[in-house]
Amino acid sequence: MATANTSEAPVLKVENLRTYFRTRWGEVKAVDGVSFELRKGETLGIVGESGSGKSVTVLSMMRLIPIPPGRIVEGTITLDGEDLLQLSESEMSKVRGSKIALIIQDPMTSLNPVFTIGNQVTEAIRIHQDIPKRSVMEKALEVLRKVNIPAAETRIRDYPHQLSGGMRQRVVGAIGISCQPLVLIADEPTTSLDVTIQAQYLKLLRDLQQESGMSLIFITHDFGIVAKMCDRVAVMYAGKIVEEGSVRDIFNKPSHPYTEALLASVPKMEEDVDRLYAIEGQPPLLHDLPVGCSFADRCPYVMDRCREEYPPEFPVDEGHYSACWRLA
Ligand SMILES: Nc1ncnc2c1ncn2[C@@H]1O[C@H](COP(=O)(O)OP(=O)(O)OP(=O)(O)O)[C@@H](O)[C@H]1O
Ligand code: SF4
Ligand SMILES: [Mg+2]
Repeated sequence: MATANTSEAPVLKVENLRTYFRTRWGEVKAVDGVSFELRKGETLGIVGESGSGKSVTVLSMMRLIPIPPGRIVEGTITLDGEDLLQLSESEMSKVRGSKIALIIQDPMTSLNPVFTIGNQVTEAIRIHQDIPKRSVMEKALEVLRKVNIPAAETRIRDYPHQLSGGMRQRVVGAIGISCQPLVLIADEPTTSLDVTIQAQYLKLLRDLQQESGMSLIFITHDFGIVAKMCDRVAVMYAGKIVEEGSVRDIFNKPSHPYTEALLASVPKMEEDVDRLYAIEGQPPLLHDLPVGCSFADRCPYVMDRCREEYPPEFPVDEGHYSACWRLA
């Protein structure tokens, strides 16, 4: 488990973020009051079932939500002392990539098939750094070597389809780190990779983090990755963080019934580990959330109060919070 210096002010502070989508069924509350902090060099894992709002949270932080149908209704996202939601689009495009970067879910679709990887890496560098043309190429080779692309001088002229899946993934990583962001977000970066390549890639990200002191946000379905990579974990359910704590606390003392269920549903080594989370019942419809706790219909401990009012965050231990009436 990694450690971070917790005495420093946070690099990133998200407060009461709400992002809604207008759909034909009504307003989908994809992210509904999310708050968290991230310190320098720290790694935060965000876990939760499909549709819980993990990607919308980070896309909101990057200001990459399609408007319409989406809109950021409320909140502040303070990065390095600046509220990203107050920036103009041109100011934001300078921040994107240079201070905060996102490696998205599917490395196939995040590279453009008609440009060489050299084009794509140099483009990312050129947008954010005012350096001479020749140095851009040198810098591109440097980051490709950093992510262990063999024979980078030759590979730089290849198109994405000429690379293996693992190499493509590392090129996407190279673009992510090319401008030394303060915060790098990886949205399920390893799901399409085989286990050995995945382990190598995760080690690479960790090494790069140690070298540069950047903060990482890892979105994953895999608790094994959380245990290996993260300092803290935020558990999301139906657009909200329902529990947050250190990796040790979340694994040893899960306090929200949803976290308990998630941990209990992690497949054993001998089982098929491709997909997980077989928790009974369905998450609520985000355009028709129940009054009270959104986990109530699936919760073995549900009480009357749970259906009347959404639970506030209760402290469990220092730095460990859980939104559940059982802690009242
Ligand atoms: N463009 C959109 N229009 C309407 N609804 C959207 C849009 N994008 C996301 N949503 C809704 O927002 C909710 C949260 O989606 P999100 O992609 O954040 O889930 P997730 O937690 O990342 O899931 P996964 O683990 O499958 O990636 C979902 O109900 C989704 O349908
Ligand atoms: S608030 Fe009630 S329904 Fe919600 S998780 Fe806690 S016990 Fe279960
Ligand atoms: Mg997602």
